[in-house]
Amino acid sequence: MSSDPTTFVTITARARGPLVIEGNVIIRSPEGQILEAPPSKTPGVIKLCACGRTRNRPFCDGTHKIDPEQG
Ligand code: FES
Repeated sequence: MSSDPTTFVTITARARGPLVIEGNVIIRSPEGQILEAPPSKTPGVIKLCACGRTRNRPFCDGTHKIDPEQG
C-alpha cells in the first residue's frame, strides 16, 4: 500500500494523555500485522497511549484519566 506524500497527518500530544492522530495511517504490531483502532467518538481519529498504562497497547483506553495516587 502506498501513501500520498503530499497529505499531512497531524499528531497532537495531549498533556498527560494520548497522542491524537488525525489522518490516514496504518498501525502495525511488532509482528507486522495491521491493527484495527478501537472506535472513536470522532471518525478518522486514532489515540495512541503515551502514558504506558493502557491495557490495549498501543491504543489509549482512557486509563491515563485514573489518578495513579488512588490506585
Ligand atoms: S494515554 Fe490514555 S491510557 Fe495511556
